[in-house]
Amino acid sequence: MTAPLTHSAPITVEVALAERAYDIIIGRDVLGSLGRRVAELRPGARVAIVTDYTVARHWLAAVEWVLGEAGIPTSRIVVGEGEASKTYAGFESVCEALIAARIERNDLVVALGGGVIGDLAGFAASVVRRGVDFVQVPTSLLAQVDSSVGGKTGINSPQGKNLIGAFHQPVLVVADTAVLDTLSPRQFRAGYAEVAKYGLLGDAGFFAWLEQNAAEIFSGGSAREHAIATSCRAKAAVVARDERETGERALLNLGHTFGHALEAATGFSDRLFHGEGVAVGMVLAAELSVELGLLPSDAARRIARHLHDVGLPTAMQDIAGFMQEGLADADRLMALMAQDKKVKRGRLTFIVLEAIGRAAIRSDIDPAMVHGFLARKLDGG
Ligand code: GLY
Repeated sequence: MTAPLTHSAPITVEVALAERAYDIIIGRDVLGSLGRRVAELRPGARVAIVTDYTVARHWLAAVEWVLGEAGIPTSRIVVGEGEASKTYAGFESVCEALIAARIERNDLVVALGGGVIGDLAGFAASVVRRGVDFVQVPTSLLAQVDSSVGGKTGINSPQGKNLIGAFHQPVLVVADTAVLDTLSPRQFRAGYAEVAKYGLLGDAGFFAWLEQNAAEIFSGGSAREHAIATSCRAKAAVVARDERETGERALLNLGHTFGHALEAATGFSDRLFHGEGVAVGMVLAAELSVELGLLPSDAARRIARHLHDVGLPTAMQDIAGFMQEGLADADRLMALMAQDKKVKRGRLTFIVLEAIGRAAIRSDIDPAMVHGFLARKLDGG
């Protein structure tokens, strides 16, 4: 018989942003407290819930019920799944639906879903009536540890991911870890890449703890809450120091320069989830750091081993069809990286590792060196 899983009491992490400060509530079944928390935060507010069809099937009725029980009138805006909704057209339809639902300045938008819903609903909330407050109720691991915290909202341009957007902080984040039980193993794993990221960029002890406790995080015991709370604390601390990414917030992009290029090369499709791109990207960032003489090669091997052990892709060769379909082209990947938001005055920014638990921002890496590195990696080097 397996031992019953234990769970910790709800954990509150504060994002300390003065007048824009807010709490992240993390725990199993904390969704049940959403109505009370919203009623306390905005007495008399009405709520528009923005979600997608899949999340609606699992959680919309429960969220409407807890809000209704607290006396909060709700309306619902349900959009299609995935990046296809994070477009100008998707944005327009959410804005129009918020206006039609008569959501006013003192009302609230609740973003119920993964990263796409948080980005889309948050961006719509940032502009409708010149700004309405919103609450994040993240339903994917990736959204709970990364995208629901920190106020980055936006949509994709045909020319690149997340190129249209705004900083708009939520007023509350409610991350119910039980909600993650309905995720596919692949979606959960993809989110785990962002958890591992916090260990790699700033907390060697956390990375070592993850190596020991990944199985319990995946099975849903109290280690899951600890991992999510540790990730949120790390992110909250960085965001509080650098809300607008003028400096150290860029460290949170570890693995993302390569990862976004790989996502773009695979058409932002289900062939490579964002977190999977980040996993491959973090291994590439570690290997690039080794080539630059910054990181010992055994540290890069340790990173790849842990991500591989939890079932994440760790090389471009692991991406379905990548090597067979003409995508495995260093020129093309360099061109896709050049379109990234992280380009400043034509210079690419890479987050490199100096140790497990210590990252640095570098904008001085010779593109020819990166091109050669990628060509070797594509060659199996
Ligand atoms: N996902 C990186 C950030 O929020 O800055």
